[in-house]
This record gives sequence, structure tokens and C-alpha cells, in this order.
Amino acid sequence: MTNHIINQLQESLENLKTNQQYRQIPHLQHHGQYINHKGQTLLNIASNDYLGLGSDSELQAEFLYELNQLPAAQRPKMSATSSRLLTGNNIQLQALESELKNWYESALEGQNTSNSKSVLIFNSGYHANIGILPALTTLPVKTLILADKLVHASIIDGIRLSQSKLVSYRRYRHNDYEHLAKFIEQADSTVERIIIVTESIFSMDGDCADLITLVKLKNKDPRIELYVDEAHAVGILGNTGLGLAEATKTLADIDYLVGTFGKAFASIGAYIMCNDIVKQWLINQMRPLIFSTALPPINHAWTRFILGKIPHLTEQRLHLLQLSTMLSAAIPERYCIIETGQEIGYQSPIIPYVIGDNALTVAKANQLQSAGFYALPVRPPTVPANTARIRLVMNAKLSDEDCQRLIEHL
Ligand SMILES: Cc1ncc(COP(=O)(O)O)c(C=O)c1O
Repeated sequence: MTNHIINQLQESLENLKTNQQYRQIPHLQHHGQYINHKGQTLLNIASNDYLGLGSDSELQAEFLYELNQLPAAQRPKMSATSSRLLTGNNIQLQALESELKNWYESALEGQNTSNSKSVLIFNSGYHANIGILPALTTLPVKTLILADKLVHASIIDGIRLSQSKLVSYRRYRHNDYEHLAKFIEQADSTVERIIIVTESIFSMDGDCADLITLVKLKNKDPRIELYVDEAHAVGILGNTGLGLAEATKTLADIDYLVGTFGKAFASIGAYIMCNDIVKQWLINQMRPLIFSTALPPINHAWTRFILGKIPHLTEQRLHLLQLSTMLSAAIPERYCIIETGQEIGYQSPIIPYVIGDNALTVAKANQLQSAGFYALPVRPPTVPANTARIRLVMNAKLSDEDCQRLIEHL
């Protein structure tokens, strides 16, 4: 590498520092709900461990104990050692897919609807989102992708990788379905397929998509398909924790229901629930699935262990809702998101405290850290310009007193 390139990189890094946008990997030590950072012990209010399962050492001990009861040869291995299409497939993965399918079907039964979906597992939500849309759009079909302005970077990357000349895309204003409807109206008859893409709970704003309205829009035009990323809702919304689609009884209407295991599930990986033909197509076309080593079987065994618990964690979900409602009500209006979309009344545990200016946001995060909270600033380009914020996140292990103390320091 030439010195010229190194100098350019260094200069660009200096610019990031000047703009308070420089990212660093922090040195952390985890102790249950606490994080040791720079010599301080801080209560973690920044992770996506919404149900507190990731910090629960007893749960981990229970899992390891169960594993130890198995004969050594039956214990899940630490690596899949190849892609699923080579030798990486294994009984843990297959069992997890069929248990997820059962979860979906029992949630549907609760809604008196019948529908069948197949499940396919991926290594992460990032893999899912960068792989599904490019695979879906390899057909010689004129396709329009319409994505919410605030969808996650992984979805945007997936759209960018959907490179066919027959594919175009537009971003509608966040949760603004009139804007979305205008784009649909503008799609002339040569467009054969329209894929609407949204998150259910938005990762940075913490608000929800209105899935019922989206389904109504879908039902008006047979060309429309719905792609919903439930990364931040799975585990915490719905009677059995399947997400916002379960809570809003829209499960059967969503064509591509994506969820991840790295947040409330306290694991790693992701899934899609979709038509079986779509699953077979993804197996044949989806590059992150085909060209990456599958996750370790031990990991899927842990995800299965958690999945066995999730439907029964109703009390934790209620406590989480209560904490989130308390915190959300305490955020002064001037620190709330200004341009909220249509409010549909599901309180998520992600509560942004929007300051706007990068330096002031960093200062506020430092102040909260001095008060004992591991709170982190989120700045552009992760969020839109001038909306730097502290992303406050509740989890079911926090107490009312923890939440109250946080509110006092805001
Ligand atoms: C909405 C959304 N989808 C997908 C992902 C990526 O998931 P994973 O962390 O499993 O790669 C994230 C990560 O934060 C996310 O917020």
C-alpha cells in the first residue's frame, strides 16, 4: 500500500474525529446486567438483550447442564465446518427449522387462520437481508422495491445488491403510507411485481410499522408482496413472542417474515418464514447461504433451548412493556423524534433521546455513564443528519427503581 493511501485514510479518520463520528471498539467486561468500562461498573441500557436472557448466567448453566447429560458423541459440535449445502447441515439446524415452523403455525392457530410456511435459517440478520432481495430479484420480472426510509443498513445493502436492470427501487417517507401509496399508483402496468420492505419495530427510532395498513394496501394490488424484518420485535411482541405480525394478526399476509436471534433470543442467526417454493429458490440462489460456513451446531442447540422458553415469557414481556412505557412517558417532548409516522400504539423497548448535535450527544452519554448507566450515543451516518441521539434500551431484567433512577438523570 502506498504512503499516499495511508495518508488519505489517516486524514479521513481525523475528519471523523473532528465531526464526532469516529467509531472505536470499546474495552468491556460483562458481569450479568453490568458492564465494566474504564474502571466503572455501569448498568447496561444499550444492548438488544430485551428479555435479559443474554445476561442470565443461570439460564446458561441450565443449558450446559442439559448438554452434559448427553453422551459425548451426541453433544452438538462447535463448528459446522462448511456451508449447509456441503456438509454443514446437521440435526440441530433441521430441528430448529421445524420448531420455528411449529411456532409459526401455533401462533396462527391462535388467530383462527390456516396457512403454511417453510422456514430457512441464516447465519445472521445481516446475511438474511443482504441475500434475500438479491435472490428474489434474479427472475426476469420487472420489479419495484419500495422500502421505508429508515430501514436497516443490511436491507439497504440487500437492495443495492439487487442489481438487475429490471429492478428499480424507491424509499417512502418513514411510516408514511400515503407516500407509499403514491409510488404504488405511479407503477405502470409493465411493473409485474412490487415488494414493500419495512422493519416492524424500527431499530433506531423504536417506533412500529402499521402492518394492518400495509396488508390493506397489499390486498388492493395483486402485484404487491410484503417483506417485514422483525429483528427487534421477535421475542417481545405477540402472545407467544413471534413479533408484531403475531400481535397485529397479520402473520398470514406477510410473504417474507424475517427475524433474528441476536437480540431478544440472546443467540445469533436469523430466519425467514415464507412459501416453500421461495425457500427452495433461496437455497438455490442466495449467496450468503450458499457461500458461507453454517453456524456451529452448539449455537443452534442454544437457540432451540431459548425458543423452548420464549412463548412462556409473558411476564417478562409485560414487565418490559411497563418499563418502556414509564421511560417513554418521561422523555421531554423536545428530545422525542419530531417526525413520527402514524402511531399504532405498540410501545417498544427502544427509546431514543434525540439531541441532534453530535458533540452534545456524546457529552450527554458521558454524563449518563458518570451516573452509572452504560448509555451510548448514536450518530450519523447510522441515523439521519442532525438526529444524533442516545438510544436508551429497556430490558426485562431492569427494575422499576433502575428505570426511575435513569429518568432522574435525563
Ligand atoms: C432491523 C435489523 N435487521 C437486521 C439486523 C442485523 O441482524 P444481525 O445482528 O443478526 O446481523 C439488525 C441489527 O441490528 C437490525 O437492526
